[in-house]
Amino acid sequence: MTNMVIFAGNVATMECEREPYGLCVDAAIAIEGGRIVWVGSKNELPERFSGWEVTDYGERLVTPALIDAHTHLVFGGNRAAEFEMRLNGASYEQIARAGGGILSTVSATRAASEEALLSDALTRADALVSEGVSCVEVKSGYGLDVETELKMLRVARKFEKLRPMRVKTTFLGAHAVPPEYKSRPKDYLTEVCIPTLHAAHAEGLVDAVDGFCEGIAFTPAQMALVFDEAQSLGLPVKLHAEQLSNLGGARLAASYGALSADHVEYLDEDGVAAMAEAGTVAVLLPGAFYTLRETQVPPVNRLRDKSVPMALATDCNPGSSPLTSLLLTMNMGCTMFRLTPEEALAGVTRNAARALGLQDTGEITVGKRADLAVWDVRHPAELAYRIGFNPLHQRIFGGM
Ligand code: NIG
Ligand code: FE
Repeated sequence: MTNMVIFAGNVATMECEREPYGLCVDAAIAIEGGRIVWVGSKNELPERFSGWEVTDYGERLVTPALIDAHTHLVFGGNRAAEFEMRLNGASYEQIARAGGGILSTVSATRAASEEALLSDALTRADALVSEGVSCVEVKSGYGLDVETELKMLRVARKFEKLRPMRVKTTFLGAHAVPPEYKSRPKDYLTEVCIPTLHAAHAEGLVDAVDGFCEGIAFTPAQMALVFDEAQSLGLPVKLHAEQLSNLGGARLAASYGALSADHVEYLDEDGVAAMAEAGTVAVLLPGAFYTLRETQVPPVNRLRDKSVPMALATDCNPGSSPLTSLLLTMNMGCTMFRLTPEEALAGVTRNAARALGLQDTGEITVGKRADLAVWDVRHPAELAYRIGFNPLHQRIFGGM
């Protein structure tokens, strides 16, 4: 791995204390062994870096590479037919209760071979990478049996071997109750979900544990059973919470020191306070809000007031968010949720890293991995401002 120095017109370091965007103009970044060893104004570059290979990106903008902190990238089939049903009047919840929705993807995922799942998922991962993404979180949750949950997680783990990218895997066995356990959610959790979590953990396939806390999925008390198990294995938790109603899921997650509570459209004041206290990140998912034509926006002002870190993610999944663009997600976060462009960029860099428990990426500061995106724009606000435009010039992954 070579040592190198990068010059660029603007570097959005996203370092917390530096305002806004941690912007550094006429900047230099020195990289050694895949890590950032110096960043600052070009004029002040220390003597010890002279003689290092220089790549001059001219007027271009450099940001941390992007991180998609919430995806369901591995799944079988698609749900275009349900998209049509919704346009003909059926609701997401009606379709789910009639055995469609998540369960139709469960059937398709159980039936799919590991090779087919991998090849489809890689196509989606490539779309993200082409927009400067270096790291994706991938959830299980379309298997709901031991064999298929493990199959999904193994597929997700393979990305790193086939592509220059990082993957964090999340066990989402508590995503829905499978048909063979219809109306017996607790039996499903104790007989399948929890033993599967142990099996996946034993294979080293689990970085975090998630669940879907909702009327059409699991109650907070049921989720607590799964979180207790995660805690006993030393695994961090996160939760799909307050997406369609307010069940107090975010509060529950915060009580387990959750990395994140995700969706949170119906989050109330108590939930915000609990998240602030626990340092739990709010992962906002405008793609699902848009697709389901939700009208209740997440309480962004309250989250901001209480300094709850906000991340933005695609939630890429076949049902509620068939979205593979993190740049479009940033635009949606600004236009629909009223995030500022700076909050949107922090949401797919610094705060996304935090939502995944990653301390070595998401900012351009000394000691972090050199995961960078070089853009054919000058100002970072342009990234969230444009719609359907990909200005990526180059992605740098671990200094390469
Ligand atoms: O994040 N909310 C629950 N899970 C997914 C939807 C999955 C699906 O509809 O297939 C989500 O939106
Ligand atoms: Fe999700």
